[in-house]
Amino acid sequence: MLRKGPMIDAHRVTLAAPDDFDGWRDAARDLAEAGVPPGAILWQVTGGDAELFGSESEQPRAASFPVPRAFVELAKSAICHSNPERFALLYALLWRLRTDRHAMGDSADPLIHRLERLAKEVRRDIHKMHAFVRFRELDEEEGTRFVAFFEPEHHIVRAASGFFARRFTNMRWSILTPELSIHWDGETLTEGPGAVRADAPSGDPVEATWRTYYSSIFNPARLKVGAMLKEMPKKYWRNMPETSLVQPLIATARGRELEMIARSARKEGLENEIEAERSVEPPSNLRAAWEALLKEARGCTRCHLYTCGTQTVFGEGPLDAKILFVGEQPGDQEDLAGRPFVGPAGQLFDEALQKAGIDRSQTYVTNAVKHFKFVQRGKRRIHSKPDAGEIDACRWWLEHERELIRPPLTVALGVTAARSLIGKAVTIGKVRGAPLALADGSECWVTVHPSFLLRIPEEDRRQAERKRFVDDLKRIRERSEKLAT
Ligand code: URA
Repeated sequence: MLRKGPMIDAHRVTLAAPDDFDGWRDAARDLAEAGVPPGAILWQVTGGDAELFGSESEQPRAASFPVPRAFVELAKSAICHSNPERFALLYALLWRLRTDRHAMGDSADPLIHRLERLAKEVRRDIHKMHAFVRFRELDEEEGTRFVAFFEPEHHIVRAASGFFARRFTNMRWSILTPELSIHWDGETLTEGPGAVRADAPSGDPVEATWRTYYSSIFNPARLKVGAMLKEMPKKYWRNMPETSLVQPLIATARGRELEMIARSARKEGLENEIEAERSVEPPSNLRAAWEALLKEARGCTRCHLYTCGTQTVFGEGPLDAKILFVGEQPGDQEDLAGRPFVGPAGQLFDEALQKAGIDRSQTYVTNAVKHFKFVQRGKRRIHSKPDAGEIDACRWWLEHERELIRPPLTVALGVTAARSLIGKAVTIGKVRGAPLALADGSECWVTVHPSFLLRIPEEDRRQAERKRFVDDLKRIRERSEKLAT
């Protein structure tokens, strides 16, 4: 379907929607080229239904006068403002650009200043929508739908929706707003009419869900708790049981800040900066933050695996551990005990650690996936490998564990752990024996999973592989000692 173009009647332009940038651009270009001055145009928005989502826009026509990219960016944001003068103000600037290519350069100019303010308010409103939307779960015939109600100040719903589609790709969700509603079915965004608060289900927000993106938009480098709370207007607080979240966010903010620093230091070849930053004291509320995280993880419903196992098996160990081990997922015994690596693979792991001179009680041990996935065969529960979606869904917990503990060395035991840490599939043979750099500047070492060693039938090979595993662990211990000096 092609986008409906703007209706130009003499010099009255009727746009299809309050945020119809394409319509405004087409009309503005035609009018500017025809020499119609700003004062002669009346801009309005149709009262009828406007379906802009999922519509294909015609290719923008080439303008006979060039328009700087900065203008397009400014216009795309400012057009979403609720100020009725925005179309005319933008046209006034375009009119200037027609004869003065550098008209955008003077940010002290009152017109530019005003438009920039509108654009900034729009960006802020989008940020608030990303941060403060709260979904509630609704059972429908087709399955679960997550529904939220939100009242933006400006016409930002379309502009803000891509974020939710990217973040919640695998969920069916709807965001209802007074102006329009948007719906995601896993593949496409569609629009519906506006709604009132009562149209959305009430009850508890889906905590794990909103926490995911609330914390993902949280910018650690700008962490000011007072300001953060002030930024959250009271009307949004109504829907938010946030208080328990603030603590882990603050604690994990440091980890994220480190990631940012590491990224830019690496870019500029300042590797030493990374270590200097990493040695800064951990936050004092570390234990409370970890406990808050554990509490949340116990109620995790981020993927369907919570319906399989007995309980969430979270990581354990000192929070100042210098080595963090990551396994695949809890097995039958771990699921019952609620602790990682306590079954047969755990015993082999303990023996190998001992031979390598590593004290397990000084390390943090966790898994890439926190629930036991299995198929029932008679009375036996047979381990079943987690798939990519399950690993990705559970990565959130592992990242938070790592952000709190900030281990200089993280060890992936097997391919599932490596995939979770590195973000892509790796071949153990290719990456074994040398560290890989993680985003926060720390090292990731990859070795085999202890269960692999349990499954080797031939005695000779089994012994050889166990020795290789111990050798890997020895190298990891030596590296850890070196990093500590
Ligand atoms: N295998 C794992 O990967 N983790 C455990 O905790 C137990 C077995």
